[in-house]
Amino acid sequence: MSDKSNVSIRLCISPSLDYSEENVKDYLGSIPLGDLGLDKKDSTSLQVIAKLDKKCFVGDHPVSLKNTFWWIAYSEAGNPVGFSGLKMCKKKENKGLGYFSRAGVIKSYRGHGTQKKMIKARIRKAKELGLTHCVTYVKGFNLASANSLISCGFKLYNPHYKWGGKTALYFVKCLECGK
Ligand SMILES: CC(C)(COP(=O)(O)OP(=O)(O)OC[C@H]1O[C@@H](n2cnc3c(N)ncnc32)[C@H](O)[C@@H]1OP(=O)(O)O)[C@@H](O)C(=O)NCCC(=O)NCCS
Repeated sequence: MSDKSNVSIRLCISPSLDYSEENVKDYLGSIPLGDLGLDKKDSTSLQVIAKLDKKCFVGDHPVSLKNTFWWIAYSEAGNPVGFSGLKMCKKKENKGLGYFSRAGVIKSYRGHGTQKKMIKARIRKAKELGLTHCVTYVKGFNLASANSLISCGFKLYNPHYKWGGKTALYFVKCLECGK
């Protein structure tokens, strides 16, 4: 039997991805591409991520896939079981910030540390990119998400602009202060 804690996290997509027609084929059929933030058809990894997104966020709007580093978590058998993203904030006032975009783990693989591994992979990348902080938010009821961030050294904070809505919980991790 496969060990569910033995997943490997692979960086599959970088923001520099060429979204041209030759690269991106056979996209998700039923989802309007505009909703995904893409204007062309998709490549394999993007297709996997969009499918995982659909599975993990049932009924939610599809995540925008553009301008983001994306990781896929693979099971021992090589099946995709999770995904997560990191976006570099572009605005001048947000310089140095890395935003943790969506992350999800399929139901049968939850509770085995995959999300924590994906958080650590994103922190490593953010440091490599020279970023100073990682930020994200979770909906108040999402205990699994909040606990995984806390477990990886994130702290709750109160941003001036509440980009995830008034009731969300906002988290930050300083990458330079070693906490
Ligand atoms: C949130 C989610 C990604 C967590 O993935 P996971 O791989 O099961 O998480 P982990 O196994 O790495 O567990 C991380 C931490 O959360 C805790 N946790 C897990 N499930 C929990 C739950 N239901 N309630 C409270 N804490 C929980 C774990 O105990 C662990 O903390 P610890 O190290 O202090 O023990 C997964 O539940 C999911 O995909 N949910 C649906 C989509 C979603 O909400 N994504 C996040 C919002 S962007």
